[in-house]
Amino acid sequence: MDYFIKNIISLLREKTSLQENEIEKLIEIPPDPKMGDYAFPCYSLSKTFKKSPNIIATELSNTLHAIRPIAEIKAIGPYVNFFVDRVTLSEITLKTISEERDGYGTKTAGKDKTVVVDFSSPNIAKHLAVHHLRSALIGNAIYHIYKTLGYKCVGVNHLGDWGTQFGQLIVAYKKWGSENAHHTYTVTDLNNLYVRFHQEAEKNPGLEDEAREWFRKLEAGDTEAKELWQHFKDTSLKEFQKIYDMLGIHFDAFIGESFYNAMVEDTVARIKEKGLTKISEQALIVDLEPYNMPPCLLRKKDDTTLYATRDIAAAEYRKKTYDFEKMIYVVGSEQKLHFNQFFKVLELMGYDWASRCVHVDFGLMKFKDGKMSTRKGKVVLLEDLLIESVERIRKIIEEKNPSLENKEAVARDVGIGAVIFADLCTKRSKDVVFDWDEVLNFEGETGPYVQYTHARLCSILRKYGRPVMADIKFELLKEDESFILIKNLGQFPSVILKAAEFYEPSLICNYLIDVCGNLNRFYNAHRVLSDDKEITKARVLLVDATRQVIKNGLHILGIHTPEQM
Ligand code: ARG
Repeated sequence: MDYFIKNIISLLREKTSLQENEIEKLIEIPPDPKMGDYAFPCYSLSKTFKKSPNIIATELSNTLHAIRPIAEIKAIGPYVNFFVDRVTLSEITLKTISEERDGYGTKTAGKDKTVVVDFSSPNIAKHLAVHHLRSALIGNAIYHIYKTLGYKCVGVNHLGDWGTQFGQLIVAYKKWGSENAHHTYTVTDLNNLYVRFHQEAEKNPGLEDEAREWFRKLEAGDTEAKELWQHFKDTSLKEFQKIYDMLGIHFDAFIGESFYNAMVEDTVARIKEKGLTKISEQALIVDLEPYNMPPCLLRKKDDTTLYATRDIAAAEYRKKTYDFEKMIYVVGSEQKLHFNQFFKVLELMGYDWASRCVHVDFGLMKFKDGKMSTRKGKVVLLEDLLIESVERIRKIIEEKNPSLENKEAVARDVGIGAVIFADLCTKRSKDVVFDWDEVLNFEGETGPYVQYTHARLCSILRKYGRPVMADIKFELLKEDESFILIKNLGQFPSVILKAAEFYEPSLICNYLIDVCGNLNRFYNAHRVLSDDKEITKARVLLVDATRQVIKNGLHILGIHTPEQM
């Protein structure tokens, strides 16, 4: 717990009948720092004291004595507001950052606990769609947020590599695609085969039956079907990997839906045993009407399994294999019902861990730039999006800083960082509108802006040219601009906790934007490098701490931090 909150709690415990954790939950941070550093609302005491919250606040503030590290206690309306001793706060915060460095923000809360993160999970034989990008970026950030908190994380790519569509693809491939050699195949070729299949199937419905038959063969382990399917899968994985590499995203396991084919039999048997199944229109279902949901389909009338069946099997398998504390599925909001349904089935199967499965949903990504619009039939190719971003940043660097060394690497870090930040900085449940001018603006609330702020701090430290020391006179950092920035830096660990609690990487983005704003206000008001040795030493420590926090924050989001740009 925050050192200051601890002190505030012990002050309040003497004068109220509240428990430690009750007080902790009530304590707020006033939106305006002029109102104090912490505030305690008195509404909940109204009943016990039989007085208005305003009167309680006044009385409490009169009886409480501020002792270090609390500097002042003041009633403001129904709140008791606490001002902390600036020197103490600065010393604690800056010393912690300078000791913990890259580890600042890391915790041990998750020690010995495992979190499974199911993310990106694209469908093979199709291009990685934009929602797989959003899932990849949000999932990767959540993975690192939990890792920072000390959890063992298992990142799983639940590839969509099973289903009737692969029967369709096999039919299409055999009819119109097999003249090309396997190795020259691309995902675009596979995608075109799909499109062709659907066009032809409209005229010739018999094709659908053929496709079903091929998928049935595939589920039964037919050699030819398996070989073709493996080829589709290899082709797709090669292309997906290229994008994951560009984004610096790593998975601990690529385990596609096909893997669970061998397990669904047992899973379905267990569901049956619990008496949960019914036959409806020849299909095997779990009736979820009592829970106001449509039925969960386990087997179609042709005996083939479904997406939900495989998800249930996968959940059981993961529980057995990883014994997770929590399982997080990062998947678009349009699949909300699917997750609610199969989580319910897990619960009905008697698994208490069903309540620890979470669907972390997100909105759509829309494109403002006509060139990248996702009008019907035109998918935005992610690779093109990333390449274009890097290209645009390269041009900006060429204009602004043509003599920069390693321009290529910087353009890549910033171009890709811009896309990642743009995706993550909106609350995940909202749609993201992707607009190049905004995304790449070095002065907006963007990745390039945060990265540029970081690079500027590095350049100040290079100019300083000496080791940064933490044995400074902390009273030299008492001015408002320095203090507000330091306080902000001290909030980093609690921002990560909150981001984990709500599965919300945008909290880290917004936090970093705040840090950059506070840094700029500090920088505009005070000279860092001057002839005054002591002041310089103190401000350099603050600059270094800010650099460190921005770096740690961006790394959690999966964004690189070039030192020059
Ligand atoms: N492949 C699915 C799709 O593209 C997403 C899979 C998400 N993960 C899961 N366990 N269902 O829609």
